[in-house]
Amino acid sequence: MSRHIRISPSILNADRNNLDHEVARIAHSADWLHLDIMDSKFVPAFTFNFEESTRIVHNSPLPVDAHLMISNPDEAAVEYARIGAKSVTFHYEASSQPRETLRAIRAAGARSAIGIKPATPVEVLFDLLDEVDMFLVMTVEPGAGGQKFMNKMLPKVRALRDLVSSKKSSQWIQVDGGITLETISEAVRYGADTFVAGSVVYKSDNPGVMVDALRTAAELALEN
Ligand code: DX5
Ligand code: ZN
Repeated sequence: MSRHIRISPSILNADRNNLDHEVARIAHSADWLHLDIMDSKFVPAFTFNFEESTRIVHNSPLPVDAHLMISNPDEAAVEYARIGAKSVTFHYEASSQPRETLRAIRAAGARSAIGIKPATPVEVLFDLLDEVDMFLVMTVEPGAGGQKFMNKMLPKVRALRDLVSSKKSSQWIQVDGGITLETISEAVRYGADTFVAGSVVYKSDNPGVMVDALRTAAELALEN
C-alpha cells in the first residue's frame, strides 16, 4: 500500500489572540490542524477548555486532529468526536479502556487514534490494531513545544510500520514533537506518514511555505 504524507501544524505556539489568522496562514498548504488539549493533570500545562476547543473546531477550515493530553480521556475523547474533530487521539497511559474508547470515537464519526509517551513501550498498542485509524508516537515528552526530537523513539515507528505492513492494513503513523526539515526525513525513513509540526512552522516567517517545505522533504525521503 502506498504511503501518503500528511502535515498537521500545531497551533500550540501560534499567537493565541489571533488564532483565526494563524490558522488561515497554513490553511492552503496543510492537511490537518493539530489541536493540543492539555488539562494540567496529565501534563503540567493547560491549553484550551472544552468551550474554546469547540470554537476552534467549528471555525477551522481544515479538519481538526485533536490530541488529548488529559487524564481520564475516555469520555472526553468521544465528546471531541461529537463536536466535529475528524481525528481524536488520546493517550494509552491515561485511558482505563482504550479499546472501548477507540470504538466509541469511530462510532461518533471520527478517526480513532491512540498515542504513547516516550517511556511507554510500543508493544502495548499491538493488540489494538483493529480498532485504530492512527498511531501516535511522541518524539518528545508531551507538554510543550520547542523540544528536541528524540531519535530513540524511531524504532517504535518502525515496529508499528512493520505491524501495519504485515497485516496489509492502512493505519496512519503520526509523530509529534521536534519535527524539522531534517528530522521529518528521518521519521519517514522509519515509517511515519503523518507529521505534527509546531514551532518549526510558527517560528518561520512564512508558516504556509514551511508546511510546503516539510512536505517536500518528506516526499523526497519517501522516494529514496
Ligand atoms: C507537545 C505537543 C506538540 C507540540 C509540538 O506536547 O503535543 O503537538 O505542539 O511542538 P514542536 O513541533 O515545537 O515540538
Ligand atoms: Zn500534539
